[in-house]
Amino acid sequence: MPLRIFGSAGKKKPVSELRAAKEGQPQEEETLEVLLERRKKIELKLKKLQQQAKRADWDLSPVERITKWGHRSYVGGLDLETWFGIGKHQYQYLVSKGLRAHHRFLDIACGSLRLGQFLIPYLDEGCYFGLEGEEILVQAGLENEILPELVAMKKPRFSFNYDFDFDFIDGFDFAMAQSLFTHLTTEDIARCFHNLKSKAGPDSTFFFTYFEGDSSSNPTESHANKGWRYSVSELSDIVSSEGWTMTNIGGWGHPRNQKIAFAKLAI
Ligand SMILES: C[S@@+](CC[C@H](N)C(=O)[O-])C[C@H]1O[C@@H](n2cnc3c(N)ncnc32)[C@H](O)[C@@H]1O
Repeated sequence: MPLRIFGSAGKKKPVSELRAAKEGQPQEEETLEVLLERRKKIELKLKKLQQQAKRADWDLSPVERITKWGHRSYVGGLDLETWFGIGKHQYQYLVSKGLRAHHRFLDIACGSLRLGQFLIPYLDEGCYFGLEGEEILVQAGLENEILPELVAMKKPRFSFNYDFDFDFIDGFDFAMAQSLFTHLTTEDIARCFHNLKSKAGPDSTFFFTYFEGDSSSNPTESHANKGWRYSVSELSDIVSSEGWTMTNIGGWGHPRNQKIAFAKLAI
């Protein structure tokens, strides 16, 4: 008795019949290129589904979202390669722009130490400062992304608040806000520049990333997982209204095509 399975109409067809029908069709040869192309399509589909699933959680509190998604996924690590890659990319970029071990570095919205895991070991003791709204992200970063011996040796300092309260630092040489203004309203971006001003010196340089585009459909309240777009002139207006001068750089090889600019105190 041949093995039977159910067809879509519920009618039983012998497997041998199905196999014969399939064999009659022209089959794509499973070369390396064909399989890689198939994998690319599946990965794209997977990312789309993951993003849809995340959107369904947007109304949960930040702590609930971090607990559910994990400390890497919360800050936007779609996959491990991208998560580590973005951190390493920031680190190499900053060094190429003149950051050296003795400089004081401020990581604004340092998240789960995607950049800190590279910068804390590189910088001299006491030179890394991280501001972050969610303390549990930094805790997860310290527990999972960097050796405790290095943390003990380099003594990074952190402050946890959403008010851009920079009172835990005296000043800085370089600062970076990677993927922060992509989640903030114009009012919150202005507050960041406003509060940072008293900590900046004439040589302080603040790099920040943004998604370039039409701001007309931006959400109305800042949210760590929703997306904001701004034109270069909109950002430049905010920055200069707070007493800084913005220089746009544009593309810097970011895997998700975030652009970069830097600001210095207006003279
Ligand atoms: C997309 S993540 C980027 C984190 C980190 N810069 C990185 O590249 O991995 C945005 C981060 O901004 C933090 N954040 C959002 N608003 C903030 C605020 N007003 N003050 C401090 N952190 C904030 C979120 O908690 C989150 O960790």
